[in-house]
Amino acid sequence: MQSSGEESHSGCAYGRPVHTHDAELTEVGPGKPCGEFLRRYWHPVGLSRLVTTRPQNVRILCEDLILFRDGKGRAGLLTPRCAHRGASLYYGKVDDEGIRCCYHGWRFDVQGRCNDQPCEPDKGAAHRDKVRQPWYPVEERYGLVFAYMGPPARKPVLPRWDVLEELDEGETVLAHLTSYGAGTQDDLSEIAPWNWLQDWENIMDPHHVAVLHTSFSGAQFAPEMGIMPDVHWEYTDLGMRFIAYRNLPDGKVMERYSPCLFPNVRSVPDVYMQTGRTKRMRWCVPVDDTHHRHFNAMRVPADFNGHDGLRGRTVGDRIWADMTEAEHQEFPHDWEAQIGQGPISLHSEEHLASADKGVVMLRRLMRQQIRIVQQGGDPIGVTFDPDKALNRVGAGNYLQGTYQETKR
Ligand code: FES
Ligand SMILES: [Fe+2]
Repeated sequence: MQSSGEESHSGCAYGRPVHTHDAELTEVGPGKPCGEFLRRYWHPVGLSRLVTTRPQNVRILCEDLILFRDGKGRAGLLTPRCAHRGASLYYGKVDDEGIRCCYHGWRFDVQGRCNDQPCEPDKGAAHRDKVRQPWYPVEERYGLVFAYMGPPARKPVLPRWDVLEELDEGETVLAHLTSYGAGTQDDLSEIAPWNWLQDWENIMDPHHVAVLHTSFSGAQFAPEMGIMPDVHWEYTDLGMRFIAYRNLPDGKVMERYSPCLFPNVRSVPDVYMQTGRTKRMRWCVPVDDTHHRHFNAMRVPADFNGHDGLRGRTVGDRIWADMTEAEHQEFPHDWEAQIGQGPISLHSEEHLASADKGVVMLRRLMRQQIRIVQQGGDPIGVTFDPDKALNRVGAGNYLQGTYQETKR
């Protein structure tokens, strides 16, 4: 049958252009604009309690590394390929003085210094100090092991966060991995297979809560989260934030303060509308261009035993990983909404609207900061002064009139 005319074919999928992602904001490998920007900050690479004398593989920012703790308790992060002839240190054995390669027994300390070469005369004493296994500095805080993978001369102090330092009576800090709920709380394998920006910018998108998490999938959070908020976005000393205003049925107004703390840290107010400051920080860590993972640290009562409650998404009493395919379609959550955007979202085919203002502002600030790093400057939020390491997060749910500004 012949075409009935041009009009009826408007918008037809045939012949559409090849769409592209925004490489400047998404690609995280060494030398990439965003990769170099992210390398100016500390990033979590492991849970302290899981870092032992058994070496573990870590992939972060498109780099493969080996994380371990020597017999004296020091964490180390080295490249895997042994400086001698390339066997992986994943198969190494750890003792008090470092990690020993399985092949010829060369041993490297947590800063990559070679301190033993058992096949060489005098254990390599004459030459072994010329060998250095590439390494990155690590520090531990809040039960997390953080790494700095940037230029040594620009290494900032490891930030402190008031949410995790100013404890209420009887509280302690628990670090854990659970996020989307695909695994258990200590499951190192829970890696989300899509670009980190899709997750990061989702934090500046409060409108999706009323749809995805409420009207579409049923109330996954407090039912009041389904009230479409009035939202104000603004830049801060540490990145940006939104304030979402919801008119509650009882006539009160709930204000929800939620920040993006550059480059990849969030502290989302309680989704069950509990009032007061937040308890939790979350780091969105790029694994590579098409994968990311979450690390969490939160204040909990010292006798906290609710680890089952940290299993993430559930339908009934079943975790995300046990849901059927039909249930994923029936009750989509952030995982489903974000993975559907693809391994890296195609930014050239988006149609941004007024509710995307926060996403636009976030991308704009990221691009600006990426270019500051390219031009030799230091990006937002880094400090080299230990006395300025404490950051005030200012996140939480507050009834109108009760919020007190706590920015740094
Ligand atoms: S390859 Fe590692 S010691 Fe030889
Ligand atoms: Fe969400």
